Amino acid sequence: MTTQTARLIKKTDLSPDTTDFAFEISEGRFSGLEAGAHIDVHLGDSSIRQYSLWSWSLDGRTLNVAVKREDAGRGGSLAMHALNVGATVQIGGPRNHFPLQSGERYVTLIAGGIGATPLVAMARELLNAGRDFQVVYLVRSKELAAMDTKFRELGLDQWYRLHCDDMDGRFDMTELVQSLPVNSDIYTCGPEPMLNAVLDAGRAMRGGTIHFERFSAAADVDQGEKAGFEVELSSTGAVFQIGAEDTILDVLKANGVPVEFGCSEGLCGSCIVDVIDGEVDHRDGILTPEEQATNSYMCTCVSRAKGDRLILDL
Ligand code: FES
Repeated sequence: MTTQTARLIKKTDLSPDTTDFAFEISEGRFSGLEAGAHIDVHLGDSSIRQYSLWSWSLDGRTLNVAVKREDAGRGGSLAMHALNVGATVQIGGPRNHFPLQSGERYVTLIAGGIGATPLVAMARELLNAGRDFQVVYLVRSKELAAMDTKFRELGLDQWYRLHCDDMDGRFDMTELVQSLPVNSDIYTCGPEPMLNAVLDAGRAMRGGTIHFERFSAAADVDQGEKAGFEVELSSTGAVFQIGAEDTILDVLKANGVPVEFGCSEGLCGSCIVDVIDGEVDHRDGILTPEEQATNSYMCTCVSRAKGDRLILDL
C-alpha cells in the first residue's frame, strides 16, 4: 500500500478526551482531500487506524484529524495521543467511501460523538456550494462536544443544532426525519445505537437516501458459523485453503500475495477485491446491502465464502 511520510506539526485538545492532530506531508501534497475521506495512520507494530478528515489546507500540504482517546479500545487511539509534535508517521490515502453527492437535494447531517469529524468537512463543502442543509450534533454532554466549535466557526446560525442528552433529554429522531422535505438526503456518522436510530426512523422518510459511515464493527453484522473454503487467484491459478478461523486477507498476506488492507474489521474498504466466481458470505460493515447483493466484490478481511471456493480477481 502506498504511504506518504508526514510530520505531526500541532496537537490541540478539543475536549477532555479528544485531540486535533495536524499533519504536514514531507514531500509534495496530499491528493484526494475531500469531505467524507479518511486516512490510514500507520502506528508501528503493523497497527493501522482510520481517521476521517475534518479539515485540510488549500495547498494540500496539511490535514487535520480529530481522535477520541478510547482508554478501553484496541490501543490505536492511545498510540495516536502519545505522539509528540515533530513525530513522523506513514499515512495512507486519503480514500473516500463516504462521499457527498452533488445535486440540489436538501441535506441533513446527523453527527454523533466523534462521528462528527467527516460531517464538519461536509458542512463546509455544502456551505461553499451554496446548498440548503442543516446539521444536528448529538452528544452526551456539552463538555464532550469536541467538534461544536468547528461547526460554530462555519457560521451556520440557525441551521446548526447541538443536542446534549444530559440537558435536553432524549432526542426524537423520528420527529426530525418526519420534518424533512421530500426527497432529501441524510448523511450520518456516529455510534452504532445512533446509526440504528437514524436507520429505523428512516422508514418515515418521504423519498431520499440515508448515507452513513460506521466507525466500529456493526453489532448486527452476520457473525454466524465459520467453515473452511478455498480461494483461487485468477491471475496465477494459485489456490489457498482458508481455515475456519482464518481470514482470506491473513492467508494471502502469509503467502506473499500483495493485497491492500487497513482496519481489518470490515469498516474501511481498503481490502475490497473483485469476485470472479463463487458466492460471498458478506460480513463487513461498509458495503450497502445492494452492493453486497451484486456478489461482484468483497472485503477480504472479514467476508467469507458461502460455498467451497471463491475465485478472486487477484
Ligand atoms: S481492511 Fe478495512 S475493510 Fe478490510
